[in-house]
Amino acid sequence: AAAEKGGWSSFMAKEISEEPEAVAKTLLGRVVDHKVRLPELEPLGDDVLANIDRIVIIACGTAAYAGMLGKYAIEKWSRIPVDVELSHEFRYRDPILTERTLVVSISQSGETMDTLMAVKYATAAGARVLSVCNTQGATIPRESHAVIYTHAGPEVAVASTKAFVAQVTALYLLGLHLGEVRGTLTEEQIAEYSDELVAIPEKIEEVLVASQSIGQLAHWMTDTQSVLFLGRNVGFPVALEGALKLKELAYIHAEGFAAGELKHGPIALIEPGQVVFVVVPSPRDPDSLHPKVVSNIQEIRARGARVIAIAEKGDAAVLPFADEVIPIPLAGSLFEPLLAVVPLHIFGMELAAAKGLDVDQPRNLAKSVTVE
Ligand code: G6P
Repeated sequence: AAAEKGGWSSFMAKEISEEPEAVAKTLLGRVVDHKVRLPELEPLGDDVLANIDRIVIIACGTAAYAGMLGKYAIEKWSRIPVDVELSHEFRYRDPILTERTLVVSISQSGETMDTLMAVKYATAAGARVLSVCNTQGATIPRESHAVIYTHAGPEVAVASTKAFVAQVTALYLLGLHLGEVRGTLTEEQIAEYSDELVAIPEKIEEVLVASQSIGQLAHWMTDTQSVLFLGRNVGFPVALEGALKLKELAYIHAEGFAAGELKHGPIALIEPGQVVFVVVPSPRDPDSLHPKVVSNIQEIRARGARVIAIAEKGDAAVLPFADEVIPIPLAGSLFEPLLAVVPLHIFGMELAAAKGLDVDQPRNLAKSVTVE
């Protein structure tokens, strides 16, 4: 097993180090001359894609958070309404599906029973089903009309990391393709956004280097009982993913919140010393929610929170209010999550390791849940 880990202390450490590659391989051959090419969508037919009036993304766990990010990008670029549903919630409430609904399932393993049952249900109801999957020939892709394979490579650690960034990449490619088919994106926009994607692997490499100090941070926090994660817009799914990793790996009570919800409840949890990770959007974007997130930070800081901000390199406005800043490289707003999630993956792993836990095999969890 040591050889399989390639010198890393765990499969998870190895798999996080492969996040740049997971994105790069998922893009390989799919961005050519600044255009998106997804021949695997042909079985759906471009006329089908031109006519769908709604997309429903179904997934469980980390894959569902990738799906939430997909929603932000697909809606923005294609103007098609997108809902994201947990497979098990979707399947058992008589959901509304028509032949103009595109169901997109996301599953690393392609074997998650809840998602498989939802896919079968959707096809039987007449919807078109596209799957995003990391495992060639798995059951879910076989039950779907078309598949976009993520090429993250085999993922061994129970908690998903590199598959997540690959799933987001695949969904963004889908969003760009839909923007082209629907005429809602110009050629220039497709070129700009696909170039952004191509630049991501190198930026994740930078984040991996900049995140080396997180081990230390984790070491100081082995007695921590509760950690909160805040993010707005595309930072929200990142917050949820950061919290999930901490629960799964370090057995610490953790919650992710939309920062805008703070005053609707979560702020009551803030007491002196409460650790809060905040995913801060870029200050450069004119539509950026940056000022709102900075004011959220001030609100929790005033109540004694210990703030760890994940913020764009050079974001001076955050510095006075954060106890720690983890810098990420510059990227377009929709692309920041692919960078911001990386330190959170590392943090979950490091904190679990600092507590002496098995990061690859957390208690009570399975890599792929093949029972309902
Ligand atoms: C399990 C794993 C998670 C994973 C989820 C969905 O709960 O522990 O890491 O996100 O299943 O798995 P899938 O293979 O469908 O992506």
